[in-house]
Amino acid sequence: MQKEDLDFFRKWFLDYVDNFSSSDSFIQNNIKMKIEHTGKVCENILLLAKAEKIMGEGCRLAETIALFHDLGRFEQFMRYKTFKDSESENHALLGVKILKRKGILSPISRKERDLILKAVEYHNLMEIPECTENFKELFFYSKLIRDADKLDILRIVSESYKEGEKGRNPALELYLPDTAGCSESIITDILNKRMAKMGDVKNLNDVKLLRLSWIFDINFPATLAILKEHKYLSTIISSMPEAEEVHVIEKHLESCLNAAEIALNERKL
Ligand SMILES: [Fe+2]
Repeated sequence: MQKEDLDFFRKWFLDYVDNFSSSDSFIQNNIKMKIEHTGKVCENILLLAKAEKIMGEGCRLAETIALFHDLGRFEQFMRYKTFKDSESENHALLGVKILKRKGILSPISRKERDLILKAVEYHNLMEIPECTENFKELFFYSKLIRDADKLDILRIVSESYKEGEKGRNPALELYLPDTAGCSESIITDILNKRMAKMGDVKNLNDVKLLRLSWIFDINFPATLAILKEHKYLSTIISSMPEAEEVHVIEKHLESCLNAAEIALNERKL
């Protein structure tokens, strides 16, 4: 992939999302949030790629994946007014469908095209399909986009919680009720060092815990360093009610984060 290809993709993306601007401020704010999210995920993926010593063409490939990873979000929000895939459709597959339908990736090689489409498709799965490990490049870029994406979602929600009531965005909170308590299965998953499942999310506390559980799917030391630097986890935890179980989770996540940092850095040596 050449620099001109990436320039074309960037321009196409901006023209495409322009079609979704709306006079309805709720829609407009959420579309704007996703455009900004895409920009930040592009920045994140480049940071992570460079930390992994990826250069030139590899960085262009990574940025293209980031640019298109949430392409389906725009049509999804316009059509269903929600970011909840289970109540609308899988936004990753929708993005792939749009890329194919519009033929955007036709200027680049088949190999790059397939890799981009698969990495977009895999970015929101619970885990990267096992067989992908046999395809080293795809596995690597899938891990990159998943980390870059999670980092920015954690930034968005942390910023929103810092603003308190004023920063609340029902679409970001998936229209969940702010009720007491949290799901037992989510607590169990976290204590067993597993990512929580969207199907178990019933209220706002649950979605906060689900996003915290993403630390069990972090692939690169640079991701952990950024997480720590910005204190996203403690910001999210601070927005939760004072409860013994929240305190237990906080201590557990802190020690898991430290252990993960050591493990990832050792793997790198
Ligand atoms: Fe996404």
